[in-house]
Amino acid sequence: MRRSFEPIWLALPFPAFVIGFEGEISEVNDAAEGFCMVSRKQMQARPLVQFAGEGSAVVDAITQAQRGMRSVVLHDVKVGWGGQPRGEANVQATRLGDGEVLLMLHPRSIADKMDRSLMHRTAARSVAGMAAMLAHEIRNPLAGISGAAQLLGGTLSADDRELTAVIEEEAKRIGALVNRVEAFGDMGPGVVKPVNIHDIIDRAKRAAKAGFAAHMTFKDVFDPSIPPTAGSADQLMQVIINLLKNAAEATPKGGIIMLKTTYRPGVKLMLPGKRSQSLPIEISIKDNGPGIAANILDDIFEPFVSSKASGTGLGLSLVSKIMADHGGVVDCKSDANGTEFRLLLPVWKGEGR
Ligand SMILES: Nc1ncnc2c1ncn2[C@@H]1O[C@H](COP(=O)(O)OP(=O)(O)OP(=O)(O)O)[C@@H](O)[C@H]1O
Ligand SMILES: [Mg+2]
Repeated sequence: MRRSFEPIWLALPFPAFVIGFEGEISEVNDAAEGFCMVSRKQMQARPLVQFAGEGSAVVDAITQAQRGMRSVVLHDVKVGWGGQPRGEANVQATRLGDGEVLLMLHPRSIADKMDRSLMHRTAARSVAGMAAMLAHEIRNPLAGISGAAQLLGGTLSADDRELTAVIEEEAKRIGALVNRVEAFGDMGPGVVKPVNIHDIIDRAKRAAKAGFAAHMTFKDVFDPSIPPTAGSADQLMQVIINLLKNAAEATPKGGIIMLKTTYRPGVKLMLPGKRSQSLPIEISIKDNGPGIAANILDDIFEPFVSSKASGTGLGLSLVSKIMADHGGVVDCKSDANGTEFRLLLPVWKGEGR
């Protein structure tokens, strides 16, 4: 590699390799290490087939680029590395000369995920704009209504008092909704501090067990090597609480909530218009409930999407906003056997960064 190109090569936000004439891997960039979860040292000078697999689309693309067309692009290829699935990607192979081929992978799920996460962020922003107005316009008359109901209640017979109790109860519910919507008004994580994610998971779990998730069994697999993330402990705890609450609400008595943390140094995501973002901290929250209803699955992160009689549909929208404010992402997998939410977060890099 020409010395001057090396920093550019290493900083490329998507996995890239140079494959030699004999099909051996001769150069590997940082993003490729992250995507394949194999170190550069282990891959260099070894045959590509050994990792990508005999007859795989990736190997196919290389052969085609070496022999025939100079540049080959294969879309939506399921890429495996060393026998492990590594996700879907668009595969591009371009002949460089001397039989060398530049192989680039454009991971699809990551690009899709970023797009979706940013989209939800916009949706949450528009709620934020509405929040301040709502809080102001609703809270004052609401206080008037419940105050009047209380006064009226004092002068009525027991039967009629039931009605004023309904007014007070419902006014309280509207008040709680206004508070919830108002949470969108606080933009950004506020003061950014190092946050130990195991501490916040622990706090959230204790709160859940004492209340809404008393009927659930918890199972944990924690990776003790996880460094702190950067942000607001309270907001990140809110994220975990919202996800635990949904899991508990969806799952009948005796259900299981599986909490798992993993540290994957080298996992990077491409942010549109920005450089790549390193998101090595992963938190997974999985339940064995009936899964998310198919008709709302694509919209669950949108505000006000709910399948519950008394749900506001703001829980996941807030999750997505807080994650975006922290430079992280959230994604979701759901089928009839259960639902898994995955949170990816960056590592704390010290003050002022
Ligand atoms: N773990 C889960 N299992 C099944 N369905 C889920 C799960 N998590 C979310 N959902 C579905 O996604 C919808 C949206 O969730 P969200 O948390 O945004 O709102 P909500 O829970 O309905 O209301 P709120 O959070 O205000 O109580 C839920 O109504 C539910 O249908
Ligand atoms: Mg919810």
